[in-house]
Amino acid sequence: MGGMSNGSRSVRAAGLVLLAAVVMVAGAPPAAAEPAAVTTATLPCVPGEQVALPPPATTGGMPLLTALARRHSSREFAPDPLPLQVLGDLLWAATGVNRPGTGKRTAATARNWQNLHVYAVTAAGAFRYDPAGHALVAVKAGDLRAATGSQEFVAAAPLNLVYVSDLTKMPGVDAATDGRFYDGVHAGIVTQNVSLFAASAGLATVVRAMVDREALGGELGLPDTQRVILAQSVGLPSGSEP
Ligand SMILES: Cc1cc2nc3c(=O)[nH]c(=O)nc-3n(C[C@H](O)[C@H](O)[C@H](O)COP(=O)(O)O)c2cc1C
Repeated sequence: MGGMSNGSRSVRAAGLVLLAAVVMVAGAPPAAAEPAAVTTATLPCVPGEQVALPPPATTGGMPLLTALARRHSSREFAPDPLPLQVLGDLLWAATGVNRPGTGKRTAATARNWQNLHVYAVTAAGAFRYDPAGHALVAVKAGDLRAATGSQEFVAAAPLNLVYVSDLTKMPGVDAATDGRFYDGVHAGIVTQNVSLFAASAGLATVVRAMVDREALGGELGLPDTQRVILAQSVGLPSGSEP
């Protein structure tokens, strides 16, 4: 090509490539919109139906001693919802099955009663965690977060866990005496699992006893044989909170 320098040849070649790219993009069908990722705020909530949780991360995270060093209570939460993966990982840490062969859990219970249910109450509704299926079972649609505690921050925390004891799974135990002891220990173990997971995942959390248990049990439709023990709020830390 007489008169054309190497430089102008490569510029022209680049122009042709660009033109081809423009033609290809112009002729391509519009890219399908990415489906919105499910979060605590958008969980589908049809009572009785299950919501599958993604397989939990069972390795990694922060070294245990670092998580212990960082564990603390926080009552300030960013309004952002939590991704489904984080919710599932947190519930697995709380009381998920860590030995599939026996169905035993990350949290111990006396005589392996497994009587402590974990409810997840979000802007979308109330759900019961099913450890065996690593799934949520929708219990009640609507935003019940304010009913999970008497402190102001509770209504806006993206996730409020509610710990419920099923007395039918503690045969021969007097619910008013020994049952109270076991309920406290079982809930204490699970709340600490969640607190350490939160420290590891950079989440804020606080365990809460200031709960109208009767009223909350009513909202969740608990039978007389089940009772609310404790609650725990979880979310991303807000502002200056670590
Ligand atoms: C069983 C239990 C019940 C609690 N109840 C409440 C509560 O209702 N409201 C609240 O704001 N904090 C509550 N807390 C959080 C404590 O106030 C907090 O753990 C304590 O002040 C120590 O602070 P730290 O967790 O940062 O070490 C509770 C903690 C536990 C273990």
